[in-house]
Order: sequence, then structure tokens, then C-alpha cells
Amino acid sequence: MTKIERRDFCFGAASAAAMSFIKAPAMAEPRTRVLVHKDASCGCCGRWVKKLQDAGFQVEVVNEPDMKSVKARLGVPASLTACHTAEVGGYVVEGHTPVAAMRRLLDEKPKGAAGVAVPGMPAGSPGMEMGGEAESYEVILFGPDGQSGFGKFRGEQAV
Ligand code: CU
Ligand code: CU
Repeated sequence: MTKIERRDFCFGAASAAAMSFIKAPAMAEPRTRVLVHKDASCGCCGRWVKKLQDAGFQVEVVNEPDMKSVKARLGVPASLTACHTAEVGGYVVEGHTPVAAMRRLLDEKPKGAAGVAVPGMPAGSPGMEMGGEAESYEVILFGPDGQSGFGKFRGEQAV
């Protein structure tokens, strides 16, 4: 390659990159914002945050010294608690809830729902991959009227 050719090539690549950069904002949908409360030392919480980011959510993380009081303030039933607690679209999302269940909550807006939870920390749930076998678990919809099942999952897959 001569010097000139190389410069032409570089120019072409640069302008193509510039064009895709200009097009990107118009094509991107507005991203859903999620506020995640977690303990600073929680590793599985960070892995769940990564799942949300990979799925396109705009995630803001707040490290909290007292997650128990955060859960109480946000109305997470004591029997449904896990590690982190998130807020999205006016709902509360407790624990290692799969993205699919969050999207369904935001789309369907079930009547009387305050949020969804995956209590405990089931092995293999999003952010809880430990290399072993994934447990099946149920996402629980909760609200002032009580609790109900909102889909069974294994890993990130509905079962
Ligand atoms: Cu966790
Ligand atoms: Cu967590």
C-alpha cells in the first residue's frame, strides 16, 4: 500500500464511523432508567446490574449502608427479600429478577402491582450463576392486595 492509498482508506473508515455515529441517536429508543439500591460489598448485585446494562437499561446504582430500611421504605414484603432492590417505572424490583419479567411488568402494568421479587437468591438466576446447576424459581408479583406468581424461570429462561 502506498502512503496515499493508506490515507484514503483511513479517511473512508473515519467518515463511515462518523456517519454511523450521527445516525445512532435518531435510531436508538429512549432507554428505560433503573435505580438500583445495593450494599457496596455485594458482588452478585453488580452482576445483576451488568445484565440490565447488557439488556439496554440505563442503570444508576446507589450503594446503601442499610438495605433493610431501603426495602422497608419501598414496601418490599419481608418474606420476599433478597439482596438488591431496584426502582423502575414506578415499580419495585427485588432481587435477581430476570429482565424478561421486568419487561413484562413494564408492558402489562398488572392491576394493583407494586413490584416483582425473586426472594432468596436462587442459584443460576441472573447474576447468581455459580457454574453449577440452575434452580427453577418463581417471580412473585406483589402489591397492596397480596402476592401472586408471575412466571417460573430457570436461569434467564421462562419454564
Ligand atoms: Cu444477590
Ligand atoms: Cu443483589
